[in-house]
Amino acid sequence: MISIFKNIFFKKEEANIDFSEIAVDMHSHLIPAIDDGSKSMEDSMAMLEGFKDLGYQKIITTPHIMSDYYQNTPETILPAAKEINSKLNGCLQFSAAAEYYSDSEFLQKLEHEKLLCISGNKLLFEFSFLEEPINVNEVIFQIQLKGYKPILAHPERYPYFTKSNKGISKLRDISDRGVDLQVNFLSLIGHYGPEAKKTAEQLIDANLVSWVSSDCHHLGHMKLIKEKVSKSVYLQKLIDSGNLKNTSLL
Ligand SMILES: [Fe+2]
Repeated sequence: MISIFKNIFFKKEEANIDFSEIAVDMHSHLIPAIDDGSKSMEDSMAMLEGFKDLGYQKIITTPHIMSDYYQNTPETILPAAKEINSKLNGCLQFSAAAEYYSDSEFLQKLEHEKLLCISGNKLLFEFSFLEEPINVNEVIFQIQLKGYKPILAHPERYPYFTKSNKGISKLRDISDRGVDLQVNFLSLIGHYGPEAKKTAEQLIDANLVSWVSSDCHHLGHMKLIKEKVSKSVYLQKLIDSGNLKNTSLL
């Protein structure tokens, strides 16, 4: 009885997200069996169907390139993307880039190879979840020196950047150095824990978020997006902020 009373009088505010306003997802793992994302073509197509149902126009998927685990190259990524495109038959725009893990091989690749960009010169990269890299500023500088525009994947998921009392000041510094910040949908519903959720909200409150995406790895993620992210008040706040650049990729 008490819980019914609570539900009636203290019902949490819920949003009703229109994902067609985001229109473009630029971080996901939908190429089958080349990283920790989709396990099969069937799963990939089912996730893409999910994006279409949500109202998306374009999906740019970003397999991991990580020297210790996923040694992907344009050769492992692009033919599979072409196959997916032929199966989609034009019902959704689809292309592939990569999510580059910042390790020593990444710096080598930066030096010697043409990297896979989300669009134009926009490069998605990530840091370790566990240890604060000692060369954060150097990595950013090198990316920019090679003419790329860095986009840092899920800044809210690196606890070492926020564990001191300085809050989001380190992430603000990274943003001030010309790095765009991309928040994950699932951070906003606490899927990666309370700290990531809090940091994502602080970044949105501080107008530091330029990109939002699914980082969808499997159908479980798509289910959470449809059932829970679709009600996120903070995602609505981010959409309403006018800071998002996702539609610039259309
Ligand atoms: Fe990712």
